[in-house]
Amino acid sequence: MRPPPPPPPLWLLLPLLLWLSGCGAAAPPAGKQGLGPTPDARRRRRRTDSLSQLPAPRNLKVYLYNTQQALSWEPVTLSNDLRPVVYQVQHQYNPSSNWYDVNKENSKVDCTNIIVPKCVFSTNNLSEGFPPSFNISLRVQAKLAGLVSDWVMAPWFQHYRNATIGPPENIWVTPEEGSFNIKFSSPFDVPASEAYFLYYVYYWEKGGIQQVTRPNRSNFITLNNLKPLRAYCFQVKAELFWISGKISRPGHLSDISCSETTAGASAKLQQVILIAVGTFLLLSVVVGTCLFLVQKYRSLVKYWFQSPPGIPARLEEYLKDPDQPILDALDNDSSPKDDAWDSVSIVLSPENEGEDVLQSTVNQSAGPSQQPVEGGLQASEPTDVTVRT
Ligand SMILES: *[C@@H]1O[C@H](CO)[C@@H](O)[C@H](O)[C@H]1NC(C)=O
Ligand SMILES: *[C@@H]1O[C@H](CO)[C@@H](O)[C@H](O)[C@H]1NC(C)=O
Ligand SMILES: *[C@@H]1O[C@H](CO)[C@@H](O)[C@H](O)[C@H]1NC(C)=O
Ligand SMILES: *[C@@H]1O[C@H](CO)[C@@H](O)[C@H](O)[C@H]1NC(C)=O
Repeated sequence: MRPPPPPPPLWLLLPLLLWLSGCGAAAPPAGKQGLGPTPDARRRRRRTDSLSQLPAPRNLKVYLYNTQQALSWEPVTLSNDLRPVVYQVQHQYNPSSNWYDVNKENSKVDCTNIIVPKCVFSTNNLSEGFPPSFNISLRVQAKLAGLVSDWVMAPWFQHYRNATIGPPENIWVTPEEGSFNIKFSSPFDVPASEAYFLYYVYYWEKGGIQQVTRPNRSNFITLNNLKPLRAYCFQVKAELFWISGKISRPGHLSDISCSETTAGASAKLQQVILIAVGTFLLLSVVVGTCLFLVQKYRSLVKYWFQSPPGIPARLEEYLKDPDQPILDALDNDSSPKDDAWDSVSIVLSPENEGEDVLQSTVNQSAGPSQQPVEGGLQASEPTDVTVRT
């Protein structure tokens, strides 16, 4: 590590500045001078004016994404000087007070005299840039033909603390029956002794509610308890845990991927059973409808098929042997049992209690016989009594 060059000796210029503030008020701006001060004074003034007019870079931005580390700023432009402005970047390991050039010797990149307003410290390998657990400060100044601007400092950072974590990469999904096997790679490699990633899978059935798996260090996550033959979508997220800093950095979600669970053995069996039951039901309905139609349009069917008119079997038997008590049997069969029952409502008035006097309302349902019923009922409410005749 090489210490930085000493800053320009500003105190040497102080008398000059004081002198200029005394006589320079009426002077035209640098670069547009005509007659007036001696060439020597003019040269000195131009130098001072240029120094004071060389603006410092502005809007410094530290860019930390995955393994990438970069510093960028707004370019410095001068309207009256076409020579290119160059920039110098320095870094500091906090809490040290030494500043070091960002050059090939200290870092792998050279940002000591660059024209583009950006210094890229590392691209796709964390071990190329600043150590990710170090506290780093950066500063930049503009330079023009030996003149320099003020240093401008960027906010300090620690890569593990400040970096934006991208989504996991190379996401592979293997659909299974009622589950997904999801495999992916980490956003970037970290030394296991310093940090690790935790992964989350956000998933939902299409049009359903989003769920999230518990944090898992494995980059192979299985989503269980999914329905077979359904479309599910998911996103994967990594969270960086910095062990010594005790800091976690949630990462960005991956793009949405969707896939369909397969029909496994049991689902296929279910399908077969469903189809069988469905076919059976359909056939039953068809057969039932046919039988009903045949029943309803029996005469028509008979007519169509020209079958001779027949006599019911029992009637035929009777006709053959009229002594058979078929009609009685038919009678007995046809008269419903209810016909033999009377519904009797018995009302006992309170005055006549104890005298066993009975007022009865007889509701005849169908039977021919009506008889008032006597009984020693003590009820004061109407009572339904069913009497077998
Ligand atoms: C990093 O260094 C800066 C500047 O010295 C200091 O203000 C800051 O507190 C340090 N951060 C940590 C986490 O030590
Ligand atoms: C990163 O760089 C280091 C040394 O510069 C090297 O040993 C390592 O293999 C690189 N890693 C990757 C992923 O390129
Ligand atoms: C890094 O994070 C700290 C707080 O955690 C913040 O003060 C600092 O400004 C951040 N640095 C950058 C470059 O964003
Ligand atoms: C993490 O995932 C692996 C592989 O899917 C699984 O075996 C393990 O139980 C999971 N751990 C937790 C805490 O869920």
